[in-house]
Order: sequence, then structure tokens, then C-alpha cells
Amino acid sequence: MSVLVVGASGAVGGLVVAGLLERGERVRATSRRPENLTLPERVQVLAADLNDPPTLGPALAGVDRVFLYADLDDPEAVVAQLAGSEVRHVVLLSSSAVTFPGAEEDFNGARFLRVERAIESSGLSYTFLRPGGFASNAARWSWSVKGESAVSLPYPDAVQVPIHEADIAEVAVIALTGNALLNATPVLTGPERLTLRQQVETIGSVIGRPVAVVEQTEAESVAMLSQYVPEVWVTQIVTDWREAVGTRPDVSREYTRITGRPSRTFRTWVSDHVELFR
Ligand SMILES: NC(=O)c1ccc[n+]([C@@H]2O[C@H](COP(=O)([O-])OP(=O)(O)OC[C@H]3O[C@@H](n4cnc5c(N)ncnc54)[C@H](OP(=O)(O)O)[C@@H]3O)[C@@H](O)[C@H]2O)c1
Repeated sequence: MSVLVVGASGAVGGLVVAGLLERGERVRATSRRPENLTLPERVQVLAADLNDPPTLGPALAGVDRVFLYADLDDPEAVVAQLAGSEVRHVVLLSSSAVTFPGAEEDFNGARFLRVERAIESSGLSYTFLRPGGFASNAARWSWSVKGESAVSLPYPDAVQVPIHEADIAEVAVIALTGNALLNATPVLTGPERLTLRQQVETIGSVIGRPVAVVEQTEAESVAMLSQYVPEVWVTQIVTDWREAVGTRPDVSREYTRITGRPSRTFRTWVSDHVELFR
């Protein structure tokens, strides 16, 4: 049987494909635009759009495990499609937002919870990966670091525990290739609390030139982000920053418990993606 990675073009999905191949698994991958994927020949690539669930059908033949993103218009329809196939285990890229008080009423928490619940009630076995904020969110600063050696922020003292996408992918691969994470819901974070200001300083330190933090108002930040981020996400991002000022978010040890290794640092993430900032 094969493992299907839905969203193989994604940062996490692409690393899941690579990790499964390393373990000698038979891998199938989908994308809405498979022509844009460059994967080893032994990966069978098909087109599928999660928002058009019947398109998943051909990709599911001979598949017993699936890696899935949670960006679904109709999770129940997608899960019904999975449950009606030979699939027995789903590894979902969910979010730590589902664990926060009031998650049901929160836009972000609720959308992930809906997918998790659809899978739970389907009878499929599952692993819900619940990462906190990604280190890759810093990629949004790429152009201003490159062009101006500066990052404008309304809340530079917001505290995060940024996680490297490779850590998430590694846990996904473990979940897809054994029983250690059957019906587990690990919350995953990076190894250290860092303010946004410290993240900007880390980028400067890795690229070898200082990067300034320019304080801006919330309204200025909203206007700037709105140029390239959908409105609903702009509100979420700025609210998350505002609420994270002066906090001590949890640092999860789950990655280390599961893999036996320390989580990758934010500095490692910047080094791995240094071309974004140079
Ligand atoms: N950023 C954060 O701090 C954070 C925190 C917690 C959770 N998350 C979640 O993590 C995910 C982002 O992970 P990432 O960085 O690996 O994402 P990414 O690089 O942006 O890739 C997203 C992937 O999702 C696939 N996808 C999206 N809509 C799809 C659809 N309708 N049908 C099929 N595939 C679809 C895309 O596939 P194609 O375009 O190739 O079809 C793409 O491969 C999001 O679900 C996000 O909500 C993010």
C-alpha cells in the first residue's frame, strides 16, 4: 500500500514526501497544480483539489495512510471520501489553536476543530499535529530585510515559540510509518520563546548585517499586511501579536519525546532559508 501526501507542494508536505521516501515507503502525492511539482520519478503525482472531494478518488486507490492539510471548505465531505476508501490512518496538519480556551468561538481554532471532529467521528485512526506559530511566518519579512534592512512591526515584543517546518514533517513521518502516534494529538512548538524583535535580530545575525525594527501602529501594520495577506488572516495575525506581548507561551517537549532529538531553533530555520533574506 502507498502513503498519499495531499499538498506535496507545501513546505511541510514536501518534507513529508522526502521523509517517507527515505524510509522506503511507496509515496503518492497530489497538488491542485501537479505540473508545478518536481519530485523523484518514483513518486506518483496526481491532481486533486480538497475543495472538490471527488477529485481525490483516483489518488486514493491502493492508499492506506494520508497526510492532509486542514484548509478544507467541506471537511465532512473529504473525510467521507477517505472513510469510504482503503485509508485507515490520517495525519492532519492541525494547529495548537484548537487547545486554546474559547477555540470553538475563535475563527482559527474553530476551522481546525471542525476538521479534527470530522476525522474523529469517522472511525479512521488519526494523528492530529497541533503546531504553534511557524518559523516560516518570518518569510513575510523577506522583502523588507532584503530591500531596507528593516522590519516594521506594531508589536515587536510579542512572544512566540516558532517551530521549524522540518520538525512538523518529521513527526508526521513517524505518525505515518508506525503506531507510536495512533490517535495522538501532539502540540508542537520550537525550543525557545522569542519576541518578534529577537527573531529580527536573529535574521540580522545570520545574514551578517543588522536589521532594524521599525515600530508602526496597528493601523499601519494592517494596511501593509493587507497588500499580500487575505483580510481574515491580517486580523488574526495582528490580534495574535497584540495578545502575545509580555506572555510566556508554553514550550512543548513533544518533538523531543517523539524523536529523541532537540527541536530545531529559529536560528537554524533562518540558516536553512538564508536566501530569503540575503
Ligand atoms: N503559519 C502558522 O503559523 C501555522 C500554525 C499552525 C498551523 N498552520 C497551518 O499549517 C498549514 C500551512 O503549512 P505549510 O507552511 O506547509 O503550507 P504551504 O507551504 O503554504 O502549503 C500549503 C499546501 O496546502 C495545499 N492545499 C491548500 N489548499 C488545498 C486544496 N484545496 N486542495 C489540495 N491541497 C491544498 C497546497 O497544495 P497545492 O497548492 O499544491 O494544491 C500546498 O501544498 C496551513 O493549513 C496552516 O493553517 C500554520
